Amino acid sequence: MKNCAMSYPYQINSFEEYQKVYKESVENPEAFWASVAEHFVWKKKWDKVLDWNFTEPKNEWYKGGKLNITENCLDRHLAERGNVPAIIWESNDPNEKQRILTYSMLHKRVCQFAQVLINNGVQKGDRVCVYMGMIPELAIAILACARIGAIHSVIFGGFSAQSIADRLYDAQSEFIITCDGAFRGGKDIPLKSVIDDALIGNRTVKKVIVYTRTRTPISMIKGRDVWWEDEMRHVEEMGIKEMDAVEMDAEDPLFILYTSGSTGKPKGVVHACAGYMVYTNYTFVNIFNYQPGQIHFCTADIGWITGHSYIVYGPLSAGATSLMFEGVPTWPDAGRFWEIVDKYKVNILYTAPTAIRSLMSYGLGPFQGKDLSSLKVLGTVGEPINEEAWHWYNENVGKKKCPIIDTWWQTETGGCLITNLAGITPSKPGWATLPMPGIQPILVDEKGVEITEAEDGVFKGNLCIKFPWPSLLRTTYGDHERCRTNYFATYENLYFTGDGALKDENGFYRITGRVDDVLNVSGHRIGTAEVENAINMHAGVIESAVVGYPHDVKGQGIYAYVIYSNTHGDEELTRKDILQTVTRMIGPIAKPDKIQFVNGLPKTRSGKIMRRILRKIAEGEIENLGDTSTLLDPGVVEEIKNGHI
Ligand code: WT7
Repeated sequence: MKNCAMSYPYQINSFEEYQKVYKESVENPEAFWASVAEHFVWKKKWDKVLDWNFTEPKNEWYKGGKLNITENCLDRHLAERGNVPAIIWESNDPNEKQRILTYSMLHKRVCQFAQVLINNGVQKGDRVCVYMGMIPELAIAILACARIGAIHSVIFGGFSAQSIADRLYDAQSEFIITCDGAFRGGKDIPLKSVIDDALIGNRTVKKVIVYTRTRTPISMIKGRDVWWEDEMRHVEEMGIKEMDAVEMDAEDPLFILYTSGSTGKPKGVVHACAGYMVYTNYTFVNIFNYQPGQIHFCTADIGWITGHSYIVYGPLSAGATSLMFEGVPTWPDAGRFWEIVDKYKVNILYTAPTAIRSLMSYGLGPFQGKDLSSLKVLGTVGEPINEEAWHWYNENVGKKKCPIIDTWWQTETGGCLITNLAGITPSKPGWATLPMPGIQPILVDEKGVEITEAEDGVFKGNLCIKFPWPSLLRTTYGDHERCRTNYFATYENLYFTGDGALKDENGFYRITGRVDDVLNVSGHRIGTAEVENAINMHAGVIESAVVGYPHDVKGQGIYAYVIYSNTHGDEELTRKDILQTVTRMIGPIAKPDKIQFVNGLPKTRSGKIMRRILRKIAEGEIENLGDTSTLLDPGVVEEIKNGHI
């Protein structure tokens, strides 16, 4: 088995088997996770499966084990699957030729680029920032980091120079891998120029490696900036075709990925080599019921955790074929996904409810002439899926023949925690259903007491997990205390997800959304405090409060209440100015959809903004605001209600 990923002995094949495996996994988690980990390539076996406590918190898996994740994603497939496509890449432009990288080709490129990193001074443990579009070189870049033990920190291409600068500083990154630009739909995004802005005043970054994608004119600073192509040619001339993978400890960090929380500053979630590898592989194989040879198309960007886990590490460690798409679902038209499914005979499609809702609005025309009969499994991720979207997906994409999996998880969890298994366990529209083996969810009240009383057969509470699993985050980079207070301090001995959930009499879970001040806009996670900080940077803004409201396509929209000093100006222009500031501070993804100018915000006597009221008004629920008697000045509520947009 060791060197062949063609079968998955730990793949669950029936509901009964799921129930049996689940029971074993919670009765004896260590034996269970050891049995899964047997099926990977280790340079040295582990000494201890698990060492944990949720107070520090400590969460260590496969301690003493030595490995390199890239040997599991690449080398072990070479003998039997060297000529199998690892990555199929579809360009933004439907007329540009696709690229196919077999496992052998990907292995060679990763080794060569690993040598490039070494030639440029990157060492094990160094943090490498990756800011690229969705091209195979992005996968090559992160795998090359993993090959030499450098810690990658991928930043989504929609973040601003200021966001990059903050993340470079937080991770103390000395190296950047980027592109001249990226194509996304009808736009060219000038990535290198954003990096240049992020580097103004920066003294820590030593090297910037630039891949040519758009051939946009860019500045290249002597001594600091080098071209990817030149560096690769040099390595090719050195005759380098392979390179040994650096031996890593099971618990060495594999990557950092920044994500938003309820504070103003994103945190660097850290995942470790072995546990992340085991869990992403295990979930990939089981959730999608992946069969060797199938083509898996996850439409996420590698800038988010979904891309890390289910475009790169999960599929490649399973020897699968992963389809990577550079573009967007609606360009040049809304039939783009269906064209890709038809062109490559895609078997598994994994996308976000927001993409489904956006495609729904184009009607059925875009399906014309597209053969979707290759599809076997459909998946969704990132936000709750409304029933209308679920049925549309089921009827028009899956033709009622494909199981739909609703996968709930988070950047911090590394892989899916609650989901049905495609075709194996039951589904229920809008419900993520059952926990994966090894995952022990619990619903608690505000005080952390387990919810034991059902209302109309449904339990309702805050979703926590009471036992660790291999890909639970290890820390937040550079600030372990922050990891503790954010996730492990709200409720004693529990990992708190920040989500609210329901549980029905079958034990199925439905995730209802965040209960903290985090928004989910088009599947992108944004902290209200972050947006407020950005708005408050704008000259003239005195104070602001940001809340979410239901949005037909985005899931949630951003509603900002702003106290502005100079009201005699042009309001519309001021709104645009504020959007510019948010774009500059965070990125266009965080731009409020609505800005309402107000004279005051509803505050308690202790000065706390009552967001509950602001949320209600933003949702258009003007009449039933609940108790406002504790407000310092109930009068402001009337004014805000009247100005509601
Ligand atoms: C938050 C995590 C998981 C990868 C993409 C997002 C929400 C995620 C679902 C789902 C309902 C979901 C939660 C979660 N979420 N999946 N299937 N049903 N809500 O990762 O950016 O870390 O966001 O996304 O609120 O906490 P993320």
